[in-house]
Amino acid sequence: MNTKKEIIQQLKEEKNAVILAHYYAPPEVQEIADYIGDSFYLSKLAVNLDNPVLVFCGVSFMGESAKILNPDKTVLMPDASADCPMAHMVDRSVVDAAREQYEDLAVVCYINSTAEIKSWSDVCVTSANAVKIVRNLPNKNILFIPDRNLGHFVAKQAPEKHFIYNEGYCPRHEFMSADEVRQLKEAHPQAQVLVHPECNAQILALADYIGSTSGIIKYAAEHTECEEFIIGTVSGVVYKLNESRPDARFYFPATRPSCPDMEQMTLDQVIHVLKTGDNAVAMPPEELTRQAGQALSRMLELAR
Ligand code: 13P
Ligand code: SF4
Repeated sequence: MNTKKEIIQQLKEEKNAVILAHYYAPPEVQEIADYIGDSFYLSKLAVNLDNPVLVFCGVSFMGESAKILNPDKTVLMPDASADCPMAHMVDRSVVDAAREQYEDLAVVCYINSTAEIKSWSDVCVTSANAVKIVRNLPNKNILFIPDRNLGHFVAKQAPEKHFIYNEGYCPRHEFMSADEVRQLKEAHPQAQVLVHPECNAQILALADYIGSTSGIIKYAAEHTECEEFIIGTVSGVVYKLNESRPDARFYFPATRPSCPDMEQMTLDQVIHVLKTGDNAVAMPPEELTRQAGQALSRMLELAR
């Protein structure tokens, strides 16, 4: 009998499909993926792949962005219910009020957002390119949506800008306990603390390095002089961290940071969507797709 891995391989060949997985996906899913990466890498990649079918092992805003950037491709989501709570955490009124108040304004939208929210915005960013893009915008005033933590992090690196924040957050990073990180620091005084900018300010204050998931993985890979790391992001990243630094030890807060939307995905779901074509991402309405597509394309252009 064929293993699930063999079945997936066969189906991929039949459908000329390619599998993309975020670093937060479960280890067995990352194992069968053709490409693994952070939100920025995966959105760039989706544009450059020739395969007509993309299986996106991530949450809905990722599949939706891939579809908007590749209208002719079929984008399949293994877990149709996998959504990102932060992706909905801003009201149109916040954007309208800022546009009313400031003439010279750029609405900068974290890619962790719905297509509708992207369509209200001037440019998208990810945690890997937000600082670079904001610094290069001609505008003085920046409304950063939906994540206030990433917004504050970017503002610190771009003091020449005036920031307006929105009260959105990622629950997985916002509610991480600074006390638990301090306990880890006490237990492992040699360890460096690497955290995601979606974390709350108390956690960011304890960090040696703040960066996207790919930034964290790269930092650990390059700092071979350090053998212990305390990690402040969703624990799915440990698959890649272990792969690139098998000699190192990685510690997570006692209340293990997990993102159920990313972690409930299964190989059976991957097989199911490959077999049936179920859970294909639908194209959002035309005007909304055009506007959200512009914000995404501008990100790809400015991040180059
Ligand atoms: P990155 O992939 O940009 O590191 O972001 C993490 C995240 O929360 C994705 O949902
Ligand atoms: Fe959304 Fe947070 Fe999960 Fe990323 S980790 S998908 S931001 S809920």
